[in-house]
Amino acid sequence: MQHPFRSDHFIRQDESDDALFYREPRLVVHIDDQAIAAVGELFRDVFPPGDGGAGPAVLDLMSSWRSHWPRDLPKARLVGLGLNAVEMERNPDLDAHVVHDLNQDPVLPFGDASFDGVAITVSIQYLVRPVEVFREVFRVLRPGGAFLVIFSNRMFFTKAVRIWVMSGDGDRMELVAAYMELAGSFEGITRMYLNPDRGEMEDPVYAVVARKPVGPG
Ligand SMILES: C[S@@+](CC[C@H](N)C(=O)[O-])C[C@H]1O[C@@H](n2cnc3c(N)ncnc32)[C@H](O)[C@@H]1O
Repeated sequence: MQHPFRSDHFIRQDESDDALFYREPRLVVHIDDQAIAAVGELFRDVFPPGDGGAGPAVLDLMSSWRSHWPRDLPKARLVGLGLNAVEMERNPDLDAHVVHDLNQDPVLPFGDASFDGVAITVSIQYLVRPVEVFREVFRVLRPGGAFLVIFSNRMFFTKAVRIWVMSGDGDRMELVAAYMELAGSFEGITRMYLNPDRGEMEDPVYAVVARKPVGPG
């Protein structure tokens, strides 16, 4: 598919090295408790327990000190990739982590078909080369594996790409779906509003979920 974006869609107010912005650990949550619960429920729906196996191997891209993985939900392995080692060392959900700047190098340091799932939680707005990263997500997913992009409406404005800052929540769902379509071969791209019953002052949570086809894709 032809790339419909212009390069100025992906400029940011703060174009300094991301490693500088994320040098100091931020041990804070970026969404409220009911939003975190909604994220956990999505993980539960996409990776149901009781398949008889050890649970999925999952990659938490743009990871910090919380992955919001439900305590009682089986997993074989949860690997974090982010910019701050201290944040990821404090993450009780992670089994391993790697520091890697996706805006410097969108190539993921993992083998082909090494994960059953990949999640990007409340961070997609910071990627300046999202389609390249999404192609890499496709590569590291096993056939049938799930890709979950979860977001709210909060952000570090100076580090978010312009097209995200200028869009409303519904447009952002379309934007993430477009990244997935442009990345090539994801199937079943589904847009979700995860907490329609939230209170007025609570954080909304949206997700776009897709899968790598089981057959040749
Ligand atoms: C708002 S926090 C979200 C953390 C976590 N996913 C969560 O759900 O709370 C944004 C995270 O994105 C990561 N990040 C930002 N820019 C990045 C980049 N260029 N490459 C890799 N990770 C990045 C940072 O390490 C930071 O912890």
